[in-house]
Amino acid sequence: MIRVLFVTSEVYPVIKTGGLADVSASLPEALCRQDHDVHILLPGYPAALAAAKSAGTRRKAQLRIGFYPVTLWQTRLPDSAVALWLVECGPLFDRPGNPYQNEDGGDWWDNAHRYHLFARVAAMMALGQAGLNWVPDVVHCNDWQTGLVPVLMDSCQKRPATVFTIHNLAYQGLFSHEAFRALGLPDSLWRYDRLEFHGQLSFIKGGLVFSDHLTTVSPGYAEEILQPPLGCGLDGLLRHRSPFLTGILNGIDTRQWDPESDPYLIHHYGPDDLPNKRLCRADLQKQAGLGGSAEGPLLGFIGRMVEQKGIDLLLSVLPDFLDRGCQAVLLGSGMHEYEEAALELAEQYPGRLSVTLGYDEALAHRITAGADIFIMPSRFEPCGLNQMYSLRYGTIPVVHGVGGLKDTVFDPDTTGMNRANGFTFDKPEPGKLSAALDRALAAFNRTKAWRQLQRNGMAGDYSWQTRARAYIDIYRQILAARQSITDD
Ligand code: ADP
Ligand code: GLC
Repeated sequence: MIRVLFVTSEVYPVIKTGGLADVSASLPEALCRQDHDVHILLPGYPAALAAAKSAGTRRKAQLRIGFYPVTLWQTRLPDSAVALWLVECGPLFDRPGNPYQNEDGGDWWDNAHRYHLFARVAAMMALGQAGLNWVPDVVHCNDWQTGLVPVLMDSCQKRPATVFTIHNLAYQGLFSHEAFRALGLPDSLWRYDRLEFHGQLSFIKGGLVFSDHLTTVSPGYAEEILQPPLGCGLDGLLRHRSPFLTGILNGIDTRQWDPESDPYLIHHYGPDDLPNKRLCRADLQKQAGLGGSAEGPLLGFIGRMVEQKGIDLLLSVLPDFLDRGCQAVLLGSGMHEYEEAALELAEQYPGRLSVTLGYDEALAHRITAGADIFIMPSRFEPCGLNQMYSLRYGTIPVVHGVGGLKDTVFDPDTTGMNRANGFTFDKPEPGKLSAALDRALAAFNRTKAWRQLQRNGMAGDYSWQTRARAYIDIYRQILAARQSITDD
């Protein structure tokens, strides 16, 4: 049994801005199911503390970090056996809404401070300095918010092994030199091969430079980040660390995302009763205010409306497809200009295009089940979860073949019909997206071929069980490597 401290800035269903939250819940659960002892550490955001306090907490510790009194609360991830620790520090984490940004969408001014304190608590727990009778063998960090954890433990001879998972290299946690000084980190860290990045403090470099092993969330992205542009200026460092970098595809929570039992759906279906999916489609059309009959397929999009997700590409080709008899349902939120453009288009196509801004879990499930085609024109995609949800729901993905999308969606033109489960295009350009959608539309009209694509997708293994084993292998490797260091 390996004891793992899983350090993350969001976890579903407690707090979520993206796929990191989903992974931070399902990977620890899968590890626990394989008899490992995983404890999640999360900042004590108000929603998290409120939920923990109403569910009852079991143990706590009182720490002092600089000027700040910090309380550690222990609870459980809802509906799960996984232990969840919350770092309560009112002045830094008791803020409404999004964990990283204020109501105007700007980053909290003291994010460096907030996630430095969080990292210090993680390091204290990891080194057995928090007054708890639990010490991990492995500390598993995720994204820039946790990048300083391995840095703070680096000089300790007796420390747990460290893994750092890159969920998105484009978010790096960059701050000024003044911020670096204000954190009181030693000057020796201000070097290009440590935390300095073009005159700024880079949190993510802490994780990339100081961890025993690096992982990222798909084999495709693990290759892409070794070169520009997806290396985001860190490709040199990543090439240097590539012997210690592994791409492991994310899984999905197959209990929550199951068309045979999904509580958000009125009608359920599996690969053998696909006609029932039509009923989910009719429900979605009704809920979204779309006309009941449409000659063409119903297209779906769910995601952050930001450049990464290629929402602008989708909006630019949609009118043509709506004119040709398709309908579409879009759900998401993000940059104001994309939100406005989506709403304007919906006004031009009443009864054909529905746009919902905001976060809506129930609608996300209904779109995944009710749409015929799910579109992900992401410019880059470290893994992507929505294409896997869609595949499991018999909804055919049309995706830019990049990162994790390339690793999960197989086009008939490249793999043949026996393996195909969707359509890919090779450049994030409107013409390429249109051409792939055209091919999807043609297949939609050939019932037998369409059924085969659906069945191939639904037969895929998207569960965390196999993926969790790949993490366990890495934990074992780095534990063995550390053991040989401490033996020397
Ligand atoms: P990313 O983390 O880059 O946003 P992922 O595909 O890994 O992309 O994960 C996104 C997650 O967030 C998925 O679980 C998706 O269903 C969910 N999601 C995104 N936007 C919304 C929304 N507006 N409403 C409900 N769920 C959403
Ligand atoms: C990031 C990536 C996304 C990935 C998710 C979970 O947010 O953008 O592709 O699926 O992390 O690893």
